[in-house]
Amino acid sequence: MSACVKVAVTGAAGQIGYALLPRLASGEVFGPDVRVSLHLLEITPALKALDGVIMELQDCAFPLLDEVVATDQVERAFDGVNWALLVGSKPRGKGMERKDLIRDNGPIFIGQGRALARAAADVRVLVVGNPANTNCLIALHHAGQAGVPGDRFAAMTRLDENRAKAALAAKAGVQVGQVKRTTIWGNHSATQHPDAENARIDGRPAAAVIADPEWLRGEFVQAVQQRGAAVIAARGLSSAASAANAALDHVRSLLRPTPADDWFSAGVASNGSYGVDPGVVFSYPLRTVAGQAGPQVVDGLELSDWARARLAATLAELQEERAVVADLLD
Ligand code: NAD
Ligand code: LMR
Repeated sequence: MSACVKVAVTGAAGQIGYALLPRLASGEVFGPDVRVSLHLLEITPALKALDGVIMELQDCAFPLLDEVVATDQVERAFDGVNWALLVGSKPRGKGMERKDLIRDNGPIFIGQGRALARAAADVRVLVVGNPANTNCLIALHHAGQAGVPGDRFAAMTRLDENRAKAALAAKAGVQVGQVKRTTIWGNHSATQHPDAENARIDGRPAAAVIADPEWLRGEFVQAVQQRGAAVIAARGLSSAASAANAALDHVRSLLRPTPADDWFSAGVASNGSYGVDPGVVFSYPLRTVAGQAGPQVVDGLELSDWARARLAATLAELQEERAVVADLLD
């Protein structure tokens, strides 16, 4: 066993970090022959709590867990890492939208984008902290100024995709693994568009299996858009176990080619596909293709006029968010 992957996790002492770290260290993501070195970044006041998390990791006696670096210094955390999971940031509370966090959380991603460019030559980055698309835009902009390609960066919409798959499976009365090609378009926000038109259940169009067009355009869409808020209303805290799980699903999706009968969703810098302005971090259907550096947008999907109007609405929100952080993109 010689391979070792270095993974940075920011906000490692937080809720998502607590659910994420043991699963990274267990080997379930990178495989049974790959050691995992964890580089954990926290703000200084949270370093003591992070010590406790590290004690628990040690007490799990994971055979694959290599070194654990705990630091409040961003460049030390990102030194030579292969993956950076950017979680550290404030979560929203009841009654807030994710974009209400933008002025608090956005600045974090300036320094982290720059530090990634300096410290990590070959890194893939997943932005989890909200508002994830716009934070990702900030990070990739600043890393890009130092030459890091934008296709290394993604904003997490995999949790929304998993929610959509679970909702379709429950409605159709099938196992969730039978639901494929479920796209989240646009922003990780209440304007996102979960796409049942192109989804497949047991290889058939979802609408052929779920003969309830009103549900597909109404309750289904709203339930996925509002699921994060529903978890906050029930738990008093935002999703953590499911968010960590989605981050790991995202990493796995990038590690190997995507099967032909499926795709996955994440926010990536638009190349203009589906009429989105280039550069906006927009969630698309994606495939990992052998030999290609970043995930590839699945082009040519048919969308009804209704769906196209919803894509325009979520794009308009992303454009507004970009305008709100224009000074952070200088
Ligand atoms: P949390 O408050 O439990 O933990 C956040 C941690 O980040 C804290 O320990 C805090 O000290 C740390 N932190 C704050 N600023 C930091 C910085 N500059 N550098 C490093 N660490 C920093 O929050 P959580 O529940 O773990 O959620 C974290 C973020 O993830 C929130 O913004 C939340 O809204 C978001 N989130 C996104 C998704 C998604 O699907 N994209 C899902 C769930 C949560
Ligand atoms: C989620 O979708 O659960 C997260 O983005 C947390 C939130 O604020 O809803």
